[in-house]
Amino acid sequence: MILSIESSCDDSSIAVTKIDSKEVLFHKKISQELEHSVYGGVVPELAARLHAKALPDILEQTKEFFPYLKAVAVTNEPGLSVTLVEGVAMAKALSSSLNIPIIPINHLKGHICSLFIQKDEEFPLGVLLVSGGHTQILHVKNYFDIKLIASTLDDSFGESFDKVAKMMGLGYPGGAKIERLAKKGDENRFNFTVPLKNHQNIAFSYSGLKNQVRLCIEEIGELKDQDMCDIAASFQKVAVEHIVWMLKRLFKKEKFDKFAVVGGASANMYLREKLEKITPNILTAPLEFCSDNAVMIGRAAINEYKAKNFCSLNNVKINPKISF
Ligand code: KG4
Ligand code: ZN
Repeated sequence: MILSIESSCDDSSIAVTKIDSKEVLFHKKISQELEHSVYGGVVPELAARLHAKALPDILEQTKEFFPYLKAVAVTNEPGLSVTLVEGVAMAKALSSSLNIPIIPINHLKGHICSLFIQKDEEFPLGVLLVSGGHTQILHVKNYFDIKLIASTLDDSFGESFDKVAKMMGLGYPGGAKIERLAKKGDENRFNFTVPLKNHQNIAFSYSGLKNQVRLCIEEIGELKDQDMCDIAASFQKVAVEHIVWMLKRLFKKEKFDKFAVVGGASANMYLREKLEKITPNILTAPLEFCSDNAVMIGRAAINEYKAKNFCSLNNVKINPKISF
């Protein structure tokens, strides 16, 4: 079995996965959303302190598995440095006391593996990764061979939902809240412009759209409930249209046998619906594994374990910024 730890942002999570059958034997996640909500975003220092409390509380419940552990996997990149440190410190302590190797895991590879929880992998694959920190299109030949095709030039898809929610005083995280309001809104009331339509490359940008929403909110002044629903719907429509526009361009150049969407924001049903229209049978992760969790880290770790990609106690590097 592998015990996996995730603490790259605001979710403290630990899982235990069987290496051969991929069966998930234990999973617990303590989310910090409530604590960060008042600030409209994640406060790294607060997040680190909350991990320091939550991770040992969860670990306590996994003791029965200790005799069977072959490795401890931990997210070491990318993420907030002060929160990554919390998970890595726990992994080091377990490695030392149980005499098992550490498997450092790239969080983005974890998101890709969220497609294959308790299942075999299906590669090659085109992947749209939409989270709070990333908006990328990836060509995944296999777990160890991943090429970045396109990325955001500024804000990420999920982050733009968080920022629009913050502007409307909805708290953090904003994704699910915006999606809920959008269901009751008129998506054609505000004509926000789809970003980068004439850009020469396939890329994403959300900072301009965010500013369009800001100006719209300022112009209205005091927002009524219906205004908020209409803004949410009009914003979500254009945020998703931007992705669809870029993917259509990509699909003209490159053919994928299979395509998938992963990351916290892939829980957005409106996005899934629109993607399904341009790439039918798109692969998605179960909703509970779209946002950050240790199960996807454990699933990724099975690949690393089989390749014997182990790290000794003194060699675990934390890379807050690294991507593909
Ligand atoms: O993958 P994740 O849990 O954390 C990162 O790795 O960043 O993604 C969290 C992000 C947040 O920005 C959150 O607002 C967004 O995913 N999100 C959504 C939805 N649910 C979560 N964005 C749009 N619509 C949703 N339903
Ligand atoms: Zn994530």
